[in-house]
Amino acid sequence: MVGGGDGAFIGAVHRIAARLDDCYEFVAGALSSDAQRAIASGAALRLEPDRCYTDYREMARAEAAREDGIDVVAIVTPNYLHAPVATAFLEAGIHVICDKPLGITLAEGEALVDLARAKGLVFALTHTYSGYPMVRHARELVAAGAIGEVRQVHVEYAQDWMADAAAQDPAFQATDWHNDARRAGPTGCTGDIGTHAFHIAGFVSGIQPNELLAEMHSFTPNRALDDHVQVMLRYPNGARGTLWASQMAAGCENALKLRVFGTKASLAFDQEHPNELWITPQGGSAQRLTRGRVRGDAAEHATRIPSGHPEGYLEAFAQLYRDGAAQIHAMVAKQPPPADAAWLPAVEDGVAGLRFIDAVLESDRRGSRWVSL
Ligand SMILES: NC(=O)c1ccc[n+]([C@@H]2O[C@H](COP(=O)([O-])OP(=O)(O)OC[C@H]3O[C@@H](n4cnc5c(N)ncnc54)[C@H](O)[C@@H]3O)[C@@H](O)[C@H]2O)c1
Repeated sequence: MVGGGDGAFIGAVHRIAARLDDCYEFVAGALSSDAQRAIASGAALRLEPDRCYTDYREMARAEAAREDGIDVVAIVTPNYLHAPVATAFLEAGIHVICDKPLGITLAEGEALVDLARAKGLVFALTHTYSGYPMVRHARELVAAGAIGEVRQVHVEYAQDWMADAAAQDPAFQATDWHNDARRAGPTGCTGDIGTHAFHIAGFVSGIQPNELLAEMHSFTPNRALDDHVQVMLRYPNGARGTLWASQMAAGCENALKLRVFGTKASLAFDQEHPNELWITPQGGSAQRLTRGRVRGDAAEHATRIPSGHPEGYLEAFAQLYRDGAAQIHAMVAKQPPPADAAWLPAVEDGVAGLRFIDAVLESDRRGSRWVSL
């Protein structure tokens, strides 16, 4: 693992997710930008001292040289390091599981696609919400024509943590990487959670917009980057959509919601109630589909425990790790990736996210004009 040392957020979630299905062992890390913290964090997590690194480049070199070196690295640093760290490990012949967004520029994302392909390595991108069974079932229903042709896609991702007093403090804004274009990239909320919303909308609906109109905004005086974005979407088949992402929506915890309307029915998914999916036919009554009772292949594949026992965020994350392990095993065995692991978000999805960010920036810069995606 690179990043994820003591005090970090998502690294610990990755470590739990990686171990949930017994597919991975955690054996090495460059866990912090601070050398002492990197060593102490590795020791606290019971890594062998010679596998606690203080520099990710040294880790890539040393692990590639060991007979028992790592097969795959998890990248959980702030955004600006994703591409350089991924490049170092891909060049060393090591598979990559990277958090989103893929990088901070489209050019570095495209270079990662080329490098991963040239090296023949798996590159997974942890768009967590695509790991939920009911999200996979929603995708399966749309693909099977259960809602007819898709006409509208509406996705929203609302949080309120940037409105907390602590996050409003100028000292926090001056030091936290989310507010710093050098480390977060050219957007704040748009890259941080807008990319998750963009990904799940395409993952479920099966269609990608080709034009958008966007307005980015910061409700916080002097915040360097956006803390709110609203976007209108047009699709090549004539469908229309909206995407709203905000980290300033008072009272919202992690309110990622998706609705897809087809010619025959609509689907609704709410991330805070991930064990259910609603489908409502035109002129009919809403039906609540539950995780353990659906017999769609994709949902069953992503389920671990019997119906009525709630699963959630950690299992969704673990699903991505399980699919990643299946893809790596297949690649090592020179087999095609198993079909049920094929929905793992990949480096190409990361490039689509970076294109989305660029288009939002361009539209906003031009006074919220329609731009091509
Ligand atoms: N998939 C998701 O749902 C999800 C959720 C939260 C965050 N994320 C993403 O995960 C990444 C990390 O976010 P976070 O909230 O955990 O950040 P964080 O600030 O809590 O942790 C970042 C970690 O990276 C380490 N780091 C920084 N520079 C380093 C270097 N040169 N070498 C080694 N380690 C270094 C820091 O010391 C820290 O341990 C971000 O890209 C973010 O967008 C994804």
